[in-house]
Amino acid sequence: MNILFLGDVFGKPGRNLVIERLPQFLETHKIDFCVVNGENLADGRGLTERTCKPLFHAGVDIVTGGNHLWDRNESLDFIHKTPQIVKPLNYPFRTPGSRWFTLEKKNVALTVVSLAGQIYMPPTDSPFLAIDKYYDDIRANSNIILVDFHAESTAEKRAMGWFLDGRVSALIGTHTHIQTADEEILPRGMAYLTDAGMTGPHDSVIGIRKNIILEKMLTAVPIRYEVPDTGLQLNGAIIKIDVLTGKALSITRVKQHCEAVN
Ligand SMILES: [Fe+2]
Ligand SMILES: [Fe+2]
Repeated sequence: MNILFLGDVFGKPGRNLVIERLPQFLETHKIDFCVVNGENLADGRGLTERTCKPLFHAGVDIVTGGNHLWDRNESLDFIHKTPQIVKPLNYPFRTPGSRWFTLEKKNVALTVVSLAGQIYMPPTDSPFLAIDKYYDDIRANSNIILVDFHAESTAEKRAMGWFLDGRVSALIGTHTHIQTADEEILPRGMAYLTDAGMTGPHDSVIGIRKNIILEKMLTAVPIRYEVPDTGLQLNGAIIKIDVLTGKALSITRVKQHCEAVN
């Protein structure tokens, strides 16, 4: 079976890209499950019901979070009542979002887990200890498990790769918004990619209009952020999994340059 994972979908340009391209993409690539990181849906800061629901209608099955998931205070109820929004497992128990989510289609079940890194990130519990603690419960739902590791540090992501190889089907990194070219199947059958990259406007500094970030870096004066709508890319990966063993058969990066959409 094939899973499409898309890295951080950023702002309105990123959302429109997914809405416009996803239905055809799912058909062309025979995708069975689609997972996207949605921590930046609403102007780059968190997600809202209005920005998230159209993605579900376009074919997204599960949305993973990250450090920005809760930036929109008005959306906490929506996150609470939408089980297919998965928060990092190593955040507090009461934080809105599912700890993991299992979806079954045609007798095949996929479980999605999110973890957040500790290096150059807001303080959290250890992602290593968190997945260890809940692994048996997570694994009870399905032998096909995809983990989104939302982290800044390449080393931390790589270490998690070795930690989870043989225990989950795929570990895909997010958060840096820059795709890495190191996709591989690790020796015990886990697909690995340090960062899926950003689905959104790359004519920017990780999603924000580049002259605004340059001005901020040159003056240290805070400036209101804006999201450009140029340099649009779909970034992510397609992971093919053997449903009997739960092991990954292949991982193929997705990096599609797209025309501007409204
Ligand atoms: Fe992000
Ligand atoms: Fe992030």
